[in-house]
Amino acid sequence: MGLWTLVQAQPAEVEEAPVTRLPPRAELASDAYQELAVRLRAEYLKPPAQWPAPTLDPGVTLVELGLVPPAPHPKENPYGKEKAELGKLLFFDPRLSGSGEMACASCHDPDLSWADGRTTSFGHGRTQLKRNAPTLLNVGHVTRLFWDGRAASLEQQATEVVMNQDEMRNSPVRVAERLGAVPAYPGLFLAAFGDATVNLQRSAMAIATFQRTIASRSNKFDSFLKGKPEALSDAAVRGLHLFRTDARCINCHMGPTFSDGKFHNENLTYYGRKFEDLGRYAVTQNPADVGRFRTPTLRNIPRTGPYMHNGLFPHLEGVLRAYNAGMGTIRRKPGQENDPLFPVKSPLLKPLGLNEHDLADLRAFLESLAETPLRVRPELPLDAPK
Ligand code: HEC
Ligand code: HEC
Repeated sequence: MGLWTLVQAQPAEVEEAPVTRLPPRAELASDAYQELAVRLRAEYLKPPAQWPAPTLDPGVTLVELGLVPPAPHPKENPYGKEKAELGKLLFFDPRLSGSGEMACASCHDPDLSWADGRTTSFGHGRTQLKRNAPTLLNVGHVTRLFWDGRAASLEQQATEVVMNQDEMRNSPVRVAERLGAVPAYPGLFLAAFGDATVNLQRSAMAIATFQRTIASRSNKFDSFLKGKPEALSDAAVRGLHLFRTDARCINCHMGPTFSDGKFHNENLTYYGRKFEDLGRYAVTQNPADVGRFRTPTLRNIPRTGPYMHNGLFPHLEGVLRAYNAGMGTIRRKPGQENDPLFPVKSPLLKPLGLNEHDLADLRAFLESLAETPLRVRPELPLDAPK
């Protein structure tokens, strides 16, 4: 890849595609919006089971929005305080990478909402990776990890990324040697695992345990759910209602983490083009999975951009406009008439016809999901040679 290709912005497929936009619905008078907010606020202050009915498509089973419970720890790798603390040190330790310069935190930086703020990440030797780094907030609730769901556990995921040639480019032998040479680590592994063996498998277990503690702490929506009516503005309350009804978001962004954990095609495949990413298909080889990606969480969404698996949208505004247009339609080109792999957009995506007032309300609701920033200061044992 030449330098220019690396810096060139990715083409916006959704904007190019022929779009059947719905005309925006009529706006209400300002006092009508105010009355609507008063009515909806009263409805949404009731327990979620009594909230207004959501707009769901046939076949969609709702898990209602709510507070995030603590993430479960698996039997094979139970929680331990020492293990989580060790995992936190390792998460920030660049010795895990072949170059000795890249830590998990390089791409999942707590100061950048556990992501890296980049369109797509760069790995070992600044290799341009093809996907955007997701936030790790509440990642302990994700059962099929990565945008395409190819890892089944956080333990497996951490091992994979350390060994991946384009990412951390390390080997189990070198991880054991490098970490084992740090005077503090054997004792910390002893405290976490009962003996002092330092290896990649245990490092991955400790990092996984730490990641299961990366959880939502507080945001305005949660405060509202906990019974503080003033935590959400009028606009955000109307936005919450839109999210669950006319904007149809809840068909996929549902449950406490705002994700159904399923894979959907949003027309961002770049099929047959330079930035092609077949998504879930690479894992299942099922043609129906071409271009499907896992529904991401929307918690802390104002701070986790750029958005989508390829970081296509720098701002939420663009995401909302694309959804309002139903994410466009890609037509088959000559020769693609009978192509079994031709990506098919999710039928759950339709033009919405929201007006500017609606979009601002929806945006206000998404803004209420911003988490109170938390400083994470790792104390690394940096006293040993690298
Ligand atoms: C070079 C940048 C980079 C580094 C270093 C890195 N990651 Fe990632 N991480 C990514 C990208 C990009 C993805 C998405 C990849 C994909 O979906 O194919 C990802 C995905 C993940 C996921 C899946 C999240 C989800 O919602 O599915 C987890 C968990 C994760 N990384 C943890 C780690 C841990 C732990 C480390 C250190 C051992 C690490 N990462 C190091 C860039 C990085
Ligand atoms: C068909 C299921 C579905 C519906 C309906 C849906 N989403 Fe999504 N959403 C997804 C998937 C899947 C992605 C990731 C797509 C990709 O990267 O290719 C996503 C991505 C996003 C992102 C980017 C998140 C990130 O971290 O990159 C935002 C923001 C978002 N959706 C908001 C919304 C809003 C607001 C609505 C309602 C207007 C909505 N979504 C409706 C499934 C859905």
